[in-house]
Amino acid sequence: MPLNPNFLERLVLFRLNKGPAPMLDLFGAASFESVSLALELGLFESLAGAEAPLTAAALADRLDAHPDGLATLCNFLVAEGYLTTEEDGYRLTGMTETWLLAASETDMGPWLAFWNDLVFPFWERELETAVREGEPSRSIYEWFDEQPGRWEVAQAGFRAAASLLVDDVVDAVTVPGGSTRLIDVGGGHGLYAVELCRRHPNLSATVFDLPGAVAAVDDEIPDAVADQVSTRAGDYRTDDLGDGYDVALLFNIIHAHDPTENTALFERVADSLAPGGRIIVLDQWEGSGRTSVSRAGLRFVALTYLTTLGATVYAHEEVTSWLRDAGFGDVTRRSVGPLSGLALVEATKR
Ligand SMILES: C[S@@+](CC[C@H](N)C(=O)[O-])C[C@H]1O[C@@H](n2cnc3c(N)ncnc32)[C@H](O)[C@@H]1O
Repeated sequence: MPLNPNFLERLVLFRLNKGPAPMLDLFGAASFESVSLALELGLFESLAGAEAPLTAAALADRLDAHPDGLATLCNFLVAEGYLTTEEDGYRLTGMTETWLLAASETDMGPWLAFWNDLVFPFWERELETAVREGEPSRSIYEWFDEQPGRWEVAQAGFRAAASLLVDDVVDAVTVPGGSTRLIDVGGGHGLYAVELCRRHPNLSATVFDLPGAVAAVDDEIPDAVADQVSTRAGDYRTDDLGDGYDVALLFNIIHAHDPTENTALFERVADSLAPGGRIIVLDQWEGSGRTSVSRAGLRFVALTYLTTLGATVYAHEEVTSWLRDAGFGDVTRRSVGPLSGLALVEATKR
């Protein structure tokens, strides 16, 4: 975990500044590397599949690793809260069972793999450029296009993150009665469109995304909604979105663009909507962090958007004014989940 300093340690490190608190960041970096390797090796899945705790030697045998190397890794994972140790071997903690097993509905493994395999390697190349120049030398999406497999890892990561939020988001979304057609702009994995179609059997949805993304997710639409959900490949800034939609989702995409591009995108979406159609924007919003963790989360995503896309988080007042400029009215805002820092902004085509 997420190291959890005790009272005395918090006092010494944070209050009195009598010890080097940056050491905790060092442990955090090592912990992320170790958990990523454990996921790659299948260490957590092996322990989950075993009937009893496993020793390092037994685990090493299953994972084709060195017993001493594996013991050292496991001991660090114990200290970080991912494993517990007993006389007869290692076990998973509840945290690992809940958040890092493929069988769990809240499995974040693909999200961590997305960061380990793609986002942090991209930070290494582009963080300094983005800070010095104000943007990376190219966007992370262009970089995904350069190597087969990157889009799959990315969409699996986006899907894992979305699966933690999908119920809260879909509960909060307004789909007016009588709506039959929805477009999920930059919808990627399509999880939100799929869940909305499940709840609204008369709805059909088009998931619109870049060709590489669509190719990576095309086989992932569940059979139960296969006749309701289709994909369409293109660039939402320039390609035809179609028309006559009742609802348009723009989830986690406006942070990739500057204000002029976002206003132009809202205008294109307005053109694709039927009269009275709804636009629903989901994102992190400037000023939304109310706790220390959510404030740090917001600053973390802002730095990520700068580094990967040359963009940022926006205040919802700003987004409201672009929506008005693009021909939308009746703008409302609703928070999603207690800790996510996400909110939905909805508006109606005038
Ligand atoms: C952060 S992901 C969000 C995915 C999904 N909407 C969600 O909220 O989980 C951004 C998505 O926008 C897509 N995207 C980015 N630029 C695009 C463009 N110019 N045209 C179409 N899709 C784009 C990406 O491929 C990716 O699937």
